[in-house]
Amino acid sequence: MRTHYCGELRSTHGRQEVTLCGWVDRCRDHGGVIFIDLRDRTGTVQVTVDPEGNPQVFHQAEQLRNETVLRISGPVRLRPEESVNPKLATGAVEVMATALTVLNSVKGVLPFAVSIHDEEPVREELRLRHRHLDLRRQRMQRNLALRHQVMQTARRFLDEQGFLEVETPMLTRSTPEGARDYLVPSRMCGGEWFALPQSPQLFKQLLMVGGLERYYQLARCFRDEDLRADRQPEFTQLDLEMSFLSQEQILTLNEHLVARLWKTVLGVQLPIPFPRLGWGEAMARYGTDCPDTRYGLELTDVSDLVADLNFKVFSQAVARGGVVKCLAVPQGNEHLSNVRIKPGGDVFAEATAAGAGGLAYIRVRDHGMLDTIGAIRDSLSPGQTRALLERCGAGPGTLLLFGAGEAATVNKALDRVRQFLARDLQRIPPSTWNFVWVVDFPLLTWNKEDQRLEALHHPFCAPHPADVDNLPQARAQAYDLVLNGLEVAGGSLRIHSATLQQQVLEAMGFSPEEARRQFGFLMDAMEMGAPPHGGIAYGLDRLVMLLAGEESIRDTIAFPKTQQARCPLTAAPGPVDPHQLKELHVASTWVDPNPT
Ligand code: AMO
Repeated sequence: MRTHYCGELRSTHGRQEVTLCGWVDRCRDHGGVIFIDLRDRTGTVQVTVDPEGNPQVFHQAEQLRNETVLRISGPVRLRPEESVNPKLATGAVEVMATALTVLNSVKGVLPFAVSIHDEEPVREELRLRHRHLDLRRQRMQRNLALRHQVMQTARRFLDEQGFLEVETPMLTRSTPEGARDYLVPSRMCGGEWFALPQSPQLFKQLLMVGGLERYYQLARCFRDEDLRADRQPEFTQLDLEMSFLSQEQILTLNEHLVARLWKTVLGVQLPIPFPRLGWGEAMARYGTDCPDTRYGLELTDVSDLVADLNFKVFSQAVARGGVVKCLAVPQGNEHLSNVRIKPGGDVFAEATAAGAGGLAYIRVRDHGMLDTIGAIRDSLSPGQTRALLERCGAGPGTLLLFGAGEAATVNKALDRVRQFLARDLQRIPPSTWNFVWVVDFPLLTWNKEDQRLEALHHPFCAPHPADVDNLPQARAQAYDLVLNGLEVAGGSLRIHSATLQQQVLEAMGFSPEEARRQFGFLMDAMEMGAPPHGGIAYGLDRLVMLLAGEESIRDTIAFPKTQQARCPLTAAPGPVDPHQLKELHVASTWVDPNPT
């Protein structure tokens, strides 16, 4: 069909006869001569059709619409110096068309322009509805090529390190990762259901028991959870598991993997090792276990300093077992007016959207003078003022924002305000890659709704050896890799003793029977010579999103779902034939709340 790709033609191809295939990016009629920009995956090249030399081809070219699929033949000609296009890799040449075949025409009006010259933003719903067309545009071509490069680089690296790529089942039992399952009814086993995997967690552990030693997989995972820009119901993990390695060895191996990715894809040499931050410290300093460390604006606990103040919001919060934390914003006075931080203001709204009841503040003026709502000022002695400013590292011009209440709420609110202000005040340095390992997570956490302890990650994380006698308070040998405030990977050393697994499940409220029913196969396997093992899984879509400079993982996935977990292209999910349901022994109880 073709001798060359459009984007590869250079002046060195001068006078060669070439045949190209591709799409009409755009067509211009310049006083008798027609210029076709022909596009394929590699780029575009100018094809020139001269009415004198080729009246027949010229006549065909006159009818062409954008996105028509063409094959074109002719000699490559060097463009005269004044018409060289320095912005285009092929800008020094043109192809003089001597033959043109329309391989397929375009019927009707295209829903949006595809041309590389068209940068009009297109509504996402429309892009997804016509994804086949959207994929032709430069942005998606670039992102999918980058995704491919990430996958190939990871495969090559892991192969060099002795990892085997193994596939694990899609039709399986529920693997608890904290989300709802996507269920598949079994026709053969009436009344029984498969769950699509939330991750290959259990299988990769069984592979270690199976002596595979080092496993990886580009694994599709399914989680029925509320969607955000960085979450999809169906996403891909770069999933790893290793036997006989310590946590430190696993982290080091992963640092080399990430460094290889950044070097290959972006040409950036990342400094390794990445910093490690204890979970407790991350929560204290940033209010989150996914800290963005590209800028300061750290939080300071001032509970002890304000516990006795007459200002009730503070003292009562502490008296009730809560905390008072401060977010100090250097030069905040200059940039943030009272209107913004009081009720009705945008900063205030960020705090309350995260659950805070309000946002107290103090402005530090010259010589450490305070300017604040009277109640705080009147209740602070000069000594307390000094101590407060010193603790928060606050100099003149600093705005101190306070959260008071339950620790979880205060952290959530101040984390959100911190991130908002960093963007708003442009405190985020560009082109900075701040990786951090967050380590020493609690093994279990209290689920208020269900009134029980549950695993913070999943029930298979190994507790810290020093903490096994006090499981409710134990630290896990778990680690998350955070990049610029986003969790890109998470993993842990695993429990490899059936007894300990049973104890951890019991600490989470599983009865011995329930533990056996759900995880008996795993515990049986552990009793047949499970090696010490551990692993990690990267959110591949998130990694690609960050490398591509995109803000949504939907732009890194060929056919993603919308925020409503739908595929607008195929109109999935959709109703099925009642006959199919009957075969599956399933009856729907759904009642349309808005019948038409
Ligand atoms: P975890 O649940 O932390 O760990 O998932 C690992 C990584 O997968 C990504 N991720 C997602 N990406 C897109 N859409 C989603 N809905 C979504 N959910 C998670 C995140 C996350 O860091 N089995 C364990 C790993 C292990 O312990 O080895 C697991 O799945 O980037």
